[in-house]
Amino acid sequence: MGHIATAFSAILCLFLLLSVGCGQLDYKFYDATCPNLTKIVRRGVWSAIANETRIAASILRLHFHDCFVNGCEGSILLDEGSDFKGEKNAFPNRNSVHGFEVIDAIKADVEKACPSTVSCSDILTLAARDAVSLTGGPFWPVPLGRRDGLTANETAANTDLPSPFESLVNITAKFISKGLDSKDVVVLSGGHTIGFAQCFTFKSRLFNFDGAGNPDPILDESLLTILRGVCPNQDDSNTNLVPLDSATSSKFDNSYFKNLANSSGVLQSDQVLMSDNKTVALVLNYSKYPFVFFKDFGVSMIKMGNIGVLTGQDGQIRKNCRVVN
Ligand code: HEM
Ligand SMILES: *[C@@H]1O[C@H](CO)[C@@H](O)[C@H](O)[C@H]1NC(C)=O
Ligand SMILES: *[C@@H]1O[C@H](CO)[C@@H](O)[C@H](O)[C@H]1NC(C)=O
Ligand SMILES: *[C@@H]1O[C@H](CO)[C@@H](O)[C@H](O)[C@H]1NC(C)=O
Ligand SMILES: *[C@@H]1O[C@H](CO)[C@@H](O)[C@H](O)[C@H]1NC(C)=O
Ligand SMILES: *[C@@H]1O[C@H](CO)[C@@H](O)[C@H](O)[C@H]1NC(C)=O
Ligand SMILES: *[C@@H]1O[C@H](CO)[C@@H](O)[C@H](O)[C@H]1NC(C)=O
Ligand SMILES: *[C@@H]1O[C@H](CO)[C@@H](O)[C@H](O)[C@H]1NC(C)=O
Repeated sequence: MGHIATAFSAILCLFLLLSVGCGQLDYKFYDATCPNLTKIVRRGVWSAIANETRIAASILRLHFHDCFVNGCEGSILLDEGSDFKGEKNAFPNRNSVHGFEVIDAIKADVEKACPSTVSCSDILTLAARDAVSLTGGPFWPVPLGRRDGLTANETAANTDLPSPFESLVNITAKFISKGLDSKDVVVLSGGHTIGFAQCFTFKSRLFNFDGAGNPDPILDESLLTILRGVCPNQDDSNTNLVPLDSATSSKFDNSYFKNLANSSGVLQSDQVLMSDNKTVALVLNYSKYPFVFFKDFGVSMIKMGNIGVLTGQDGQIRKNCRVVN
């Protein structure tokens, strides 16, 4: 019987490969095992946003920072273990990423409905989608079936996540190394239409951009005045918060791109999308056509959500997102 079963599963696999891909993610993955999953996640994200608007942005960023380090396998959610250092302490994450409690609360609800069935990485991926759509952005179906990783890697978090002080060439290289491309850099940077940045992440643009005490000449004068108001030139302002989209910071819309078009991007890594011939055309397109941005954002989010996923027998379904079983 064994070889017949093997032959059968090979044929099934060939069939699946033609439709959804074999050993890959699947839109219906939990339809039979956890039919209420998407409702539970959406309710959890909704109530978190009702409590604190910014949390939508924090959850979206958490998913990005999960996927760029060893793939979307929930490694960022792990607290420090005895045999590895947690990614939570890596430079781009420390005192900067938020939302772990929201994922914990949703995971607890999901465990009640369907114990040991749904991975933390799938919950985070769904939560990021809901964070976007509940703040006015696009909705897209999320392919599921990710499994959770067994370790975290602080070094990889420090090296693989892009920094706002890096050049566009370097940032693009990091995206390409994850299987994404230059268009994904522009589209996904549109995530900065919601949420906040600490002053130190862009302060050099305000006071001493050229080493001679002048601000970044590209930065719009009135935004410069506003930013200097929240981020005066002294160290105790470094962690003050400024909206990444000064126009509509809690609404997922295309004003991030409108801002770039009028020199009002906050991070240097945002505004630089206007000074490269390849990226500027896309920025202007999205600034004019919100629905083109929305459609492309969903496509790029699915691509990002596919980075380095564990499927089949790899990894595990964690019971608690903070620790390996
Ligand atoms: C392209 C390279 C990127 C760079 C250099 C970058 C950099 C940053 C920085 C410096 C902050 C502020 C963090 C702080 O001050 O604590 C931030 C916040 C944020 N980023 Fe990015 N980011 C990038 C791409 C992305 C992507 C791909 C997404 C998601 C699709 C994203 C979503 C967010 C969100 C939503 C926030 C606000 C988080 C909050 O308010 O809690 N970013 N990013
Ligand atoms: C799904 O939720 C509904 C109520 O919203 C409940 O009646 C039903 O039992 C749940 N199904 C499962 C399988 O948990
Ligand atoms: C509500 O938001 C505050 C921050 O504004 C946070 O400290 C608190 O833990 C949140 N409560 C819940 C239940 O999410
Ligand atoms: C962690 O990531 C670094 C940088 O990508 C890599 O050199 C190292 O081998 C990784 N460590 C483990 C244990 O996978
Ligand atoms: C870009 O990457 C190269 C090689 O890693 C590095 O030497 C350079 O300092 C980086 N430039 C910026 C502006 O980050
Ligand atoms: C830039 O665009 C935003 C809307 O996206 C607007 O609030 C702001 O006033 C504009 N700034 C300038 C200088 O036109
Ligand atoms: C970029 O565009 C500008 C103006 O449209 C042009 O002068 C320049 O040569 C272009 N650069 C490249 C590398 O194509
Ligand atoms: C701009 O958007 C239109 C759809 O409205 C699309 O056909 C066109 O290719 C886009 N241009 C660029 C440079 O992306």
